[in-house]
Amino acid sequence: MTVIRKNQAALTPAEKRAFTNALLELKRNGTYDRFVSAHNAFLMNDSDFGKRVGHRSPSFLPWHRRFLLDFEAELQRVDPKVSIPYWDWTVDRTPGSSLWAADFLGGTARARDGQVLDGPFAYAGGKWAITVGVDRRTYLRRALGAGGTQLPTKAEVNAVLNMAEYDTAPWNSASNGFRNNLEGWRGSNLHNRVHVWVGGQMASAASPNEPVFWLHHAFIDMLWAEWQNRHPKSTYLPATPTPDVVDLHGTMRPWNNVTPADMLDHRKFYTFDTEQAGARQ
Ligand code: CU
Ligand code: CU
Repeated sequence: MTVIRKNQAALTPAEKRAFTNALLELKRNGTYDRFVSAHNAFLMNDSDFGKRVGHRSPSFLPWHRRFLLDFEAELQRVDPKVSIPYWDWTVDRTPGSSLWAADFLGGTARARDGQVLDGPFAYAGGKWAITVGVDRRTYLRRALGAGGTQLPTKAEVNAVLNMAEYDTAPWNSASNGFRNNLEGWRGSNLHNRVHVWVGGQMASAASPNEPVFWLHHAFIDMLWAEWQNRHPKSTYLPATPTPDVVDLHGTMRPWNNVTPADMLDHRKFYTFDTEQAGARQ
């Protein structure tokens, strides 16, 4: 079966329900929090000058692609029809977007403590207690757009997609090139800024506690594929062994048989709705 990743804004009410129900089931059976823990551990370890794999390094994109694939496989064990939708935050850019409605992820939180009060992940619903976190608060928190943060624009995304070089030395948060500008340590700050815009757990190392993590990273993943389309001659860098980072054929922890090269072609695993016959590019 071909997996199709769809724009979250185009999901039917039944598709939204199937996705959130699968998340709740993984939370209930303990699988979900294993992913939160894994991400938390990697983020805490990924520093600019040591061995780094998930963040601040070239393998940011293939690492998260594989992380999402593992998670999507777990969702599909619950419900084979479910795939991870993507959130195009250049279009759905306000707290009023249907993404944040009570029939999907729920909305922004109350000011007093940041607690999300509606939707399937509201603490009072009894199905979404935070167990892996940076503090003892057990409820999902958000502060959508608080402090005047704006989500990145199409023009900002376009400027980064136009960068022809995948990555450059020193292969960390100081690098020039597509990967670091997309990750957000450089330039207009794309990926990181979205974590901050959502706020709460999404802005912490334990960001997968926030279900929109998956939709955000599915879109980042899609932008990587769009970049490949625009620059057919560009490739993943570094191509050869390089201290502390994962080269094209290096092994990405925690997997022992996965390399960036294995992750370059998403069509082995899924396609995006925009790639379907008849879809407008
Ligand atoms: Cu991450
Ligand atoms: Cu992220």
